[in-house]
Amino acid sequence: MNIQWYPGHMAKAKRKITEELKLVDIVIELLDARIPLSSRNPEVDDIVGNKNRIIVLNKSDLADPSANKKWLDYFNRANTRAILVDSLKGSGLKDVLSASRQLMKEKLDRLRSKGLLVKTTRALIIGIPNVGKSTFINKLAGRSAARTGDRPGVTKAKQWIKVSPELELLDTPGILWPKFEDKRAGMYLAFTGAIKDEILDVNELALNLLQVLAEKFPEKLKKRYKLEDIPAAVTADMLLETIGRKRGCIIVGGEVDMQRTSAMLLDEFRGGKIGAISLETPDDFI
Ligand code: G4P
Repeated sequence: MNIQWYPGHMAKAKRKITEELKLVDIVIELLDARIPLSSRNPEVDDIVGNKNRIIVLNKSDLADPSANKKWLDYFNRANTRAILVDSLKGSGLKDVLSASRQLMKEKLDRLRSKGLLVKTTRALIIGIPNVGKSTFINKLAGRSAARTGDRPGVTKAKQWIKVSPELELLDTPGILWPKFEDKRAGMYLAFTGAIKDEILDVNELALNLLQVLAEKFPEKLKKRYKLEDIPAAVTADMLLETIGRKRGCIIVGGEVDMQRTSAMLLDEFRGGKIGAISLETPDDFI
């Protein structure tokens, strides 16, 4: 798989975020709870520096609850709070508000003690494409507030979205690039839908996914596709064919439509139909 961000894009994105960081008190970094490290920009710590940070493990509804807990422990640090969020349903959003209050408490108390007017906390949302930044912003704001896409030639003033009396978000989230250099991370990003399928070989991707699922989550795979057994010698190709046949993905002549079966498998995985699956846990990185 050969997917690259152009160095020019990276430099521009980094510059934009560095500028915007000067305007905010806090950074809300969104990660995909199923692949927190693969969905993390490798340079994010350098870019964000010591600024207070909330790590949102988004799409936590699609991830394994016990892995979610381990990731919370992994990410919770002195000036960082990690929170599990489902931006579709809105769970965890209240915790994001209270974490921002908590992280800002010292600074706000200091300002108050000097008799200064306490200002609203301002936050910048950052994350890789498709991690759920717009969904998160809109849910937190309680309306469709996030801007989607840039219109060329239109210079926009920075706009702030008030989500509570004490918190405002910049309406354009900072888009970062994921870790493409790492082959496994690239694959996980493609499995979870962070990379558009149009530029991928869907069949190859589905075979790779099937291999991972058969190795790490055989029970879930068996249950979803009513497989009696997954013999050690079975190839991903054979497994995909069995699944396609069971699902009636057949073309004229009785052969399995591997393309359609591949798309179905990816779709079902991404929608959580095979189960709540975390492809990465902190234990993998010890
Ligand atoms: P972005 O701004 O970071 O690029 O992401 P966006 O909000 O557009 O969300 C990307 C996809 O992820 C959307 O699916 C959205 O509904 C889904 N999503 C966001 N947050 C959550 C969450 O917490 N849980 C679940 N289950 N899904 C979430 P989509 O509209 O179907 O787009 P696509 O998958 O077809 O690209």
